[in-house]
Amino acid sequence: MNPQDATLAAYERGVQQYTEGTSTAPAPEVDALLARVPRGAHVLELGSGPGRDAAALESAGLTVDRTDGATAFVDALRAAGHQARVLDVRAEDFGGPYDAVFANAVLLHVPRMDLPGVLATARRACRPGGVLVASFKKGEGEAWTHVKLDDPRHFTYWDEAGLTAALRMAGWTPEQVAESTLPTAAERWITVIARNVASPLPIDPAVPRSGDLAETGRNGTDRRALARSPDPET
Ligand SMILES: C[S@@+](CC[C@H](N)C(=O)[O-])C[C@H]1O[C@@H](n2cnc3c(N)ncnc32)[C@H](O)[C@@H]1O
Repeated sequence: MNPQDATLAAYERGVQQYTEGTSTAPAPEVDALLARVPRGAHVLELGSGPGRDAAALESAGLTVDRTDGATAFVDALRAAGHQARVLDVRAEDFGGPYDAVFANAVLLHVPRMDLPGVLATARRACRPGGVLVASFKKGEGEAWTHVKLDDPRHFTYWDEAGLTAALRMAGWTPEQVAESTLPTAAERWITVIARNVASPLPIDPAVPRSGDLAETGRNGTDRRALARSPDPET
């Protein structure tokens, strides 16, 4: 089983364990999104999990489409009275157009070379001028962990330069890519805020997806920027 499938399987089996072990306080990224969209905005949430952030966004007057790759999370959200759908971030179409895409601690399970393609799909789901808010673990390389769940989950770690390159490759205009680690946090985090400034594009086969190891992406972007950790100043 590949790392993403194994990670999803860990969530499928561990919904209750994950929910009980996760804070009910909304992520700080909720406020970052609320500061950028008007009341009534329609938001696609990727990897809603227990649904804490969707509830906070709806309390503030937004409409949220709850989704998750794990059927067990979708079932739990529906049992709690919410509409929710199964959506794997590896899908080629996320629906929309939405005013924003919100993905807190979700895209960190995507392999490094696949992230530009996933971000491009998210951008196609977003109206022109729409916003992306997402968070990632900060660090180098990738790792498996048994923290929180009995079954292992796989994480890809990022730095600011790598995420900025991935966003640009996917056609997003980065507004903020910055460390957001809270003083009490056990791990370091990066929050990403980006705009869909460009007009919508059709599906572009040149945007890398799974297994595509070409080193030059669309617009001549050097994809090797994703494989190394360049100096954030450059
Ligand atoms: C670390 S949890 C975060 C959950 C929620 N966003 C939060 O902040 O509490 C990661 C979430 O991503 C979901 N997930 C993992 N792989 C996925 C995939 N390939 N497609 C969609 N969701 C996925 C998991 O089921 C889980 O709900």
